[in-house]
Formats: sequence, C-alpha cells, structure tokens
Amino acid sequence: MSKPYETIKVEREDRTAWIILNRPHRLNALNEVMMEELLDALTMIESDPGVRCVVITGEGDRAFSAGADITAFPKATPVIAEEFSRKGQKVFSTIEELSKPVIAAINGYALGGGLELALACDFRIASEHAELGSPEINLGIIPGWGGTQKLVRIVGLRNAKRLVMLGERLKAEEAYQIGLVDKVVPFEKLRDETRSLAQKLCDGPPVALRYAKYALNFGSQVPLEVGLRLESALMALLFSTNDVKRGIEAFMSKSKPEFRGD
Ligand code: COA
Repeated sequence: MSKPYETIKVEREDRTAWIILNRPHRLNALNEVMMEELLDALTMIESDPGVRCVVITGEGDRAFSAGADITAFPKATPVIAEEFSRKGQKVFSTIEELSKPVIAAINGYALGGGLELALACDFRIASEHAELGSPEINLGIIPGWGGTQKLVRIVGLRNAKRLVMLGERLKAEEAYQIGLVDKVVPFEKLRDETRSLAQKLCDGPPVALRYAKYALNFGSQVPLEVGLRLESALMALLFSTNDVKRGIEAFMSKSKPEFRGD
C-alpha cells in the first residue's frame, strides 16, 4: 500500500485507505503527475478487498487543494488543455465509480479542481477554516472537471451560479448551509470525525454500499423509470448475498451484524 509516490501519500489505517495530496508548497495544486498518481492509487485500492473505505485529504492545514496547477497554464494549447481536462474527468469518474465509499476530509482551501475533486467524493467533512469555491472565472475559464454539472446537482442552480459565475469563495459554515459539505468541525477534530465516519462505512455491508452508490450516482442520470428498474434489480441481487442474511439475523437476535462483503 505504501508505494513511493512523488505528489501523494497513501496510508492504510485498518480497513481505510487515506490518500493525502502532498504538494503543500503549492497548496496541493493538482498537476499531471498528481493526476496519474491518484489514478494509480485508486486502481490499487479498488482491487484490494481489505479496503472498505477511502479518505482523500490534503497535507498540512492550509489546503485540501487550491485547484489545477496554474503554472502549467501559460504553456497550454487547446489540445493540451483538452487532454488535461479529460485526464481529470477520468480520475474523478474513477472516484464516482469506485466500489467503495470515498470521503473528502477538507482541511483547508478547496478551490477549482480541488472543489471538483471533493464533489466527486461521496461525503465531505470540512474544517472550520476551510474555504470552498470555483474561482476559474477570474482566470477567464470555467470549471473543466465536472464542476458546472455537479454543483447544480448538489447545491442547485442559484448557488452554482454564485460559485461559478461570480467566483465567490464560501467559508465552511456557509458551504454547510447550502449543502456543499455534510459537516463542519474544528481542524483539530477533522481526522477523528473522518475516522468515525470511515468506521461506520467500514462496518456497513460492502456490496449494498456499492450498489447504493451506483444507484444514487448513475440512477439519477437516467429517466426515472430506468432508474427505478435499476434500483429493483440491484435490490433483488442483494438477496443473493450472505450479508443480507447476517443483517436480518442480527436484527432478529438484537445484535450487531458483522458484514463481510459476500
Ligand atoms: N496552482 C499553482 N500554484 C498555486 C495554486 C494553484 N492553483 N494555488 C496556490 N499556488 C501557490 C502560490 O503561487 C504560492 O506559490 P509561491 O509561494 O511560489 O508564490 C503558494 O501556492 C502559496 O499560495 P499563496 O497564493 O501565496 O497563498 P495565499 O494564502 O496568499 O492565497 C489562495 C491562497 C488559495 C487564495 C491563492 O493561492 C489562490 O487564489 N490560488 C489559486 C486558486 C485558483 O484560482 N484555483 C483554480 C485554478 S483553475
């Protein structure tokens, strides 16, 4: 699990894999190497049955990530920009398609691509001092890694316009009020709060969590009737797992189920 990466760290804590963005001198800005390393780490985590939950956070207390690395922009041609955008979309889709739940522990600025990375995660816990926004408009561009589409779905068109068209930066508390993050905690408690959410997810039934994530993420992109059929098929499939028996038995015997993912 501890492959030597240049721009990220991957640490295993019990059944949780922590991916730590590790370019603090650049506020963990996402460059090409970091994108490749993220993809590599996610691929490795996906194939490790011992990992039941993933956390993505940033090194230090200043930034989760201040977005795409702007120092690469002056050299960018439209072709390079398109490749970089596609690479980001691939990495973020990998998070959304991952069979395990992913938590963003937002330890500081989550701006531009940093916010888009957090939006690709299933849960977002922010430190009180974190600030979130999509400032791309100030550079003359728009979000390119899914921000325009996902913000609308998560915080609605009105708030998405404030963020994307005005480039407003929100403090964590306001981000919580509009539903952009799920919880706000003091910085000193961020790790522990994240651990306790990760623990809850690790204790959950892995196959049901995987299908729930799939039905929620992709069922909402298709017509309702198709989404409902998908839901029924996935729900039916779960009745073939041993975990459903464990869940029902535990309910009957008033004990805590020990889900194993089979
Ligand atoms: N890409 C590359 N480098 C970045 C960066 C980014 N997205 N964001 C910050 N950095 C670098 C800064 O250039 C600075 O480097 P330096 O020490 O060599 O000058 C270092 O990280 C620290 O940032 P700094 O701007 O000095 O910190 P600050 O506290 O004054 O401001 C921010 C913090 C986040 C408000 C500011 O860095 C910022 O606006 N960053 C860009 C955010 C953005 O537009 N993201 C979307 C990109 S598409």
